[in-house]
Amino acid sequence: MSEDAAPPTGPDLRAGVPLEDLKEGEPFFGHVEDSPVFLVRKGKDVRAFDAACTHYGAPLEDGLSTEDTIRCPWHHACFSLEDGSVLGAPAFNPLTAWDVQVEEGTVRVGEPLEADPLESRGSPKNEPESVVIVGAGAAGSSAAETLRREGYRGPVSLVDPDPDAPYDRPNLSKDYLAGEAPEEWIPLRSREFFQEHDIQRIASRVEEIRTDTQVVILEGGRTLPYGALLLATGAVPRTLPVPGMDAPHVHTLRSLGDCRAILDGLEEARRAVVIGASFIGMEVAASLRNQEVDVTVVAPEDVPFEAVLGSDLGTFIQSLHEEEGVDFRLGTTVNEIREKAVLLDDDSEVPADLVVVGVGVKPLVPLAEEAGLELDDGVVVDGELRTSDPRIWAAGDVAHFPEARLGRRVRIEHWVVAQRQGRTAARNMLGHQEPFTDVPFFWTKHYGTPVAYLGHSTDWDEARTEGTCAEGGCAVSFLKDGRRQALATVFRDRESLTAEVEMEREKEGQEERG
Ligand SMILES: Cc1cc2nc3c(=O)[nH]c(=O)nc-3n(C[C@H](O)[C@H](O)[C@H](O)COP(=O)(O)OP(=O)(O)OC[C@H]3O[C@@H](n4cnc5c(N)ncnc54)[C@H](O)[C@@H]3O)c2cc1C
Ligand code: FES
Repeated sequence: MSEDAAPPTGPDLRAGVPLEDLKEGEPFFGHVEDSPVFLVRKGKDVRAFDAACTHYGAPLEDGLSTEDTIRCPWHHACFSLEDGSVLGAPAFNPLTAWDVQVEEGTVRVGEPLEADPLESRGSPKNEPESVVIVGAGAAGSSAAETLRREGYRGPVSLVDPDPDAPYDRPNLSKDYLAGEAPEEWIPLRSREFFQEHDIQRIASRVEEIRTDTQVVILEGGRTLPYGALLLATGAVPRTLPVPGMDAPHVHTLRSLGDCRAILDGLEEARRAVVIGASFIGMEVAASLRNQEVDVTVVAPEDVPFEAVLGSDLGTFIQSLHEEEGVDFRLGTTVNEIREKAVLLDDDSEVPADLVVVGVGVKPLVPLAEEAGLELDDGVVVDGELRTSDPRIWAAGDVAHFPEARLGRRVRIEHWVVAQRQGRTAARNMLGHQEPFTDVPFFWTKHYGTPVAYLGHSTDWDEARTEGTCAEGGCAVSFLKDGRRQALATVFRDRESLTAEVEMEREKEGQEERG
């Protein structure tokens, strides 16, 4: 799928450009007909790649190029300038390479070259007899693809009872719920794609993991042996212990099925209450306004997102919602959900034909618990994402991992983190022994205003804002004892990418100092 990106600019690369205009290793942007394309020169060798990100189509010209990589401005996907391959999620397809001719000092670009997105580019140091991946969400699907891309030839089973998985979960609360994205944008891969790459996609629930005999038991009793296993079961929405939570007009949102149920409910609903001013709750509020439903957000905090984004950015996002007609009942909680209203703790009632509860998630750990794995707010893993059982790795929302810069274990519920952990876990199954050190990143979007958040900070003591969120964008640094732990930006994509590179180097410096 793609979002709106500006038409391509720069020189016509089919007509040709002088070789001497290209600086060593520095992307040179132009176009071929309507396609944005860039060139990279290494000595006399020149390569050409698509200049639109393969995730949602962002212009890579607005991104950041460092050494042999180029990073996307919107959600920080990272591509190799050597061969266009994906080095960092959320993109999963490489940049298409184009045919290039250099003659008499002129560089001309021909046609795009066909390539298999999972073309094997690695060589395993170790090959487990078989791999079973439990959960086909962000982490699981990324792990399955990485195994094939890294040259693993053994059997790979990707097990998940959700018939639609894997799909673009972040989009469920955004364009898809807003009625702006057709359903064909939502799947990440087709059944045929998995067949072509010999990934067995099994639509079933894993009921049990037997670590002594190294098998998993599926619904109905079928067994699957594993040499290595990835636990990527994600998280489930929390519910509220109030009367009415189970009523048919009350929804949580995690799966495509949940989203379809909300969309069905919209056929009759004119007034909705969103309980919880979480990222999902607020994105749902924006999408329901887009569907012309009256929306009231009920939440206990005084400013949405204040604990995560600080009061300046929280107040700004609240103002975006108020401008679009969202009513807020902050500092209140819900006592009961009735058929046509929600009863608050101050005894007032808010009319509601439809209720969406977005009050956070909890990691899905019963399988791990029964298997005897070490738990602590999720499944405990080491720096290489291995659990207390040496043949089992865990990644994504379920994993409690040592965060490289904080120096302590955290559990992070971000799409990009889950995908990147899936990749690291898969590489480590193949013997690479790499620690997971990527800087956490997430994005959220409210009425066309995106917020990018980098790093991780739950105990900051200062939120320092530069710029004005409402005019030209802003950057908020979250500091602890004077050190920046995280950065949130609005319309300052380059700054966010530059900070990402700095945070990565900070970690490398820590490692060198030992
Ligand atoms: C509506 C919504 C919007 C979001 N928006 C953003 C965003 O904008 N940015 C961002 O960074 N993050 C966002 N997130 C969070 C992000 O989607 C999660 O962090 C990410 O999906 C976690 O990936 P995961 O692989 O750990 O889990 P999931 O993607 O949840 O996948 C887990 C899978 O495991 C399966 N499973 C569970 N139990 C079993 C079992 N016993 N056997 C087999 N399979 C099982 C489930 O069916 C599920 O498909 C959003 C989440 C939601 C719900
Ligand atoms: S558009 Fe490039 S990472 Fe999303």
